[in-house]
Amino acid sequence: MPASPTPADKFSFGLWTVGWPARDPFGDATRPPLDSVEAVHRLAELGAYGITFHDDDLVPFGADGATRDAQIARFRKALDETGMVVPMVTTNLFAHPVFKDGGFTSNDRGVRRYALRKVLRNVDLAAELGAKTFVMWGGREGSEYDLSKDVRSALDRYREAVDLLTQYVLDRGYDLRFAIEPKPNEPRGDILLPTVGHALAFISGLAHPELVGLNPEVGHEQMAGLNFAHGIAQALWHGKLFHIDLNGQRGVKYDQDLVFGHGDLLNAFALVDLLEHGAPEGGPAYEGPRHFDYKPSRTEDMAGVWASAAANMRTYLLLKERAAAFRADPEVAEALAASRVAELSEPTLNDGEGHADLLADRSSFEEFDADAAGARGYGFVRLNQLAVEHLLGAR
Ligand code: GCO
Ligand code: MN
Ligand code: MN
Repeated sequence: MPASPTPADKFSFGLWTVGWPARDPFGDATRPPLDSVEAVHRLAELGAYGITFHDDDLVPFGADGATRDAQIARFRKALDETGMVVPMVTTNLFAHPVFKDGGFTSNDRGVRRYALRKVLRNVDLAAELGAKTFVMWGGREGSEYDLSKDVRSALDRYREAVDLLTQYVLDRGYDLRFAIEPKPNEPRGDILLPTVGHALAFISGLAHPELVGLNPEVGHEQMAGLNFAHGIAQALWHGKLFHIDLNGQRGVKYDQDLVFGHGDLLNAFALVDLLEHGAPEGGPAYEGPRHFDYKPSRTEDMAGVWASAAANMRTYLLLKERAAAFRADPEVAEALAASRVAELSEPTLNDGEGHADLLADRSSFEEFDADAAGARGYGFVRLNQLAVEHLLGAR
């Protein structure tokens, strides 16, 4: 059994996760509001190291300067008392009616300027609190009706916004990078930058791509029917995994935000294996916060909220332990070799070999026995069964 979580595990939670009063489009809140100071203390007691927030989670939208300062001061005091950190901050550009057609990409230019000002103010706060990542989830950037949104202009405006923000961080000398969080839909019918792949392509056209990466969320890729572990592997390949939102999702449906592992458990196992053992030399492939962006189900009371927060961390640690056992198992090593998994890291061409050499190599084509290669099994099912058995604790 894994040890209890400690700050060294780098588990963090959004204030809006444990603080969700469980109001949904069909029903009222089932839980009372949660004070940010209590959230910090309870999460620290459970073994988390960090807490994150949207500006409006901490200070209600439109609050005056004195209220804002007082709220931030109380929060800071709770951080100091517990040693909790704020590794990431984000801005709410989706709740207030002003953002009903988006923030950075609203058709209304005045709304776009207002959104930028709201984010700039929150970037200052993020830097002040020592956050290293600023997440941008554009939940309202999108449309329901194809003819209502000029997508190419919207992408121009998105780029204009992100370019302004990176320039701001450079000019202020902040040690802060941006992470775009893709989502295919909900609350908009179609959201811009809907998947990891779309966001990666967008980043490559920015003025300061080195300051912009991704914050992929398990459920968001799965809502699009995509393989989250594959998406994370590609984000890592591009050097763009700046942050991660862990949770659970069961198939292509509304955004469930379940506890991590309570959706596609095998994919969660592959994900933890990748994060913890995926470096080329075998160590962790990702060193950042293990951030949970889940919603304690509407059926739960406050005791259930804290039980579900603990469940996220425990599931992660169990999967980490199971992944370590999988990696240490000699039969797994043998199955990996039989499946030629490591052979894929060998370049296809010899050192210095070009197309002329390849064309001259008769063994690669004229003499290659395609039928024999086609008849050979890869043994992937045996390998997967070993993974399932480790996951089930049967080995
Ligand atoms: C969702 C999103 C949000 C964002 C958060 C950060 O579930 O639709 O994950 O929770 O992560 O708002 O900006
Ligand atoms: Mn989500
Ligand atoms: Mn998220």
